[in-house]
Amino acid sequence: MRVLVVGSGAREHAILWKLAQSPRNPELFAVPGNAGTAGIATNLPIAVTDLDALIGAAGEYRIDLTIVGPELPLTAGIVDRFREAGLRIFGPTQAAARIEGSKSFARGVMRDAGAPTPAFAVFDDAGAAREYVRSQGAPIVIKADGLAAGKGVVVAQGVDEALEAVDDAMVGRAFGASGERVVIEQCLVGQELSVFCFTDGEYVSPLVPACDYKRVFDGDQGPNTGGMGGYSPPPWWDAAMERQIRETCIEPVIREMARQRSPFTGVLYGGLMLTDEGPFIIEFNARLGDPEAQLILPRMKNDLLDVVEAALDGTLPSMDLRWSDECAVGVVLVPGGYPGAHETGKRIEGLLEAGRDAVILHAGTALSDGGTLVTGGSRTMTVVGRGVKMADARAHAYVAAEAVTFEGKHYRTDIASFAAV
Ligand code: AMP
Ligand code: GLY
Repeated sequence: MRVLVVGSGAREHAILWKLAQSPRNPELFAVPGNAGTAGIATNLPIAVTDLDALIGAAGEYRIDLTIVGPELPLTAGIVDRFREAGLRIFGPTQAAARIEGSKSFARGVMRDAGAPTPAFAVFDDAGAAREYVRSQGAPIVIKADGLAAGKGVVVAQGVDEALEAVDDAMVGRAFGASGERVVIEQCLVGQELSVFCFTDGEYVSPLVPACDYKRVFDGDQGPNTGGMGGYSPPPWWDAAMERQIRETCIEPVIREMARQRSPFTGVLYGGLMLTDEGPFIIEFNARLGDPEAQLILPRMKNDLLDVVEAALDGTLPSMDLRWSDECAVGVVLVPGGYPGAHETGKRIEGLLEAGRDAVILHAGTALSDGGTLVTGGSRTMTVVGRGVKMADARAHAYVAAEAVTFEGKHYRTDIASFAAV
């Protein structure tokens, strides 16, 4: 069987790493992949949004199943196009991916589903949006409606900051068309949590949780990033919480999507805030998270290939999908200066040693002309430590984070610090 994974980050390396353990021995392909995926898959140099080229490659390489990592190809309609071409693909349709691609659509579905959402209002007019901000006061959250590479959200502590965020998005067009419409929300306070399920559009698999760290520096200082690390499961997660979140936040939304005739098939990612009044939904994503995939896939007891096929075949309800009790801690290594401008092409060493303690999942890595491993753009890799105890998982991750060397290497030292020994 030939399986293609779309994407080039550590999330996609994690998907391929998990597929490589399948007893069914699939032949693996990555688009475009990275230097790490090249070790277990054939990398095909195609852009993830070049749908025509992707369909061509799936035919040429006789791909039996495609799994999509990032959101952009999903919102661009890769699933619809592949299905039209008679190709098997795992992920939501373009209509269903709007749950991530349009924050106003997502809030509407949550409201119609009766799922716990903060108070919100949607604006296409900057004047009306400003007036609403003044009437509500701060703190308040301003969101560009469309995809903005994780940069379209401002949690404003003051009214002036909120008004500025409205103007940046709607007048200054900081996010292009994505910010022509904004969603303004009540600010939720609490502990953030990501949960993931596999779904066939009807049945929701047992949820698996993870927590991630978004700011670049220790103590949640500095700018937001694509994710600097995380852990799974949180020590306070239990069966009652799983059930409450599944029954209030996830299942009603899956039912509502089906009712609206855009059933969601794939991985649904719930970003939640655990508040004093219970769990509230911050947002939904239409895919696995990064770095969360790197934390949860090592904990999946089943063969990922079986799980994906069960979701596509509608046999997920009879599958015993299970997650191990083992803990995982992921630390993301980035080039100095990230998420701002940073140098690339720096020689990476120490992987063999690091690999003894942790799973090494590449992201921005490349092979130079001479065949040495060097840094590419953006985040470099995630090192994932595992252990029966969180403290052991954490220790393994940090031994590996130190063992990998490249000029300018930066990582947070406080990932899962509650488990520090
Ligand atoms: P998003 O791009 O939707 O993931 O939002 C980025 C971050 O903004 C989230 O991870 C939260 O930390 C924060 N955020 C988004 N919406 C809210 C909200 N309504 N209340 C408080 N924080 C929020
Ligand atoms: N963990 C954030 C994301 O995948 O969007």
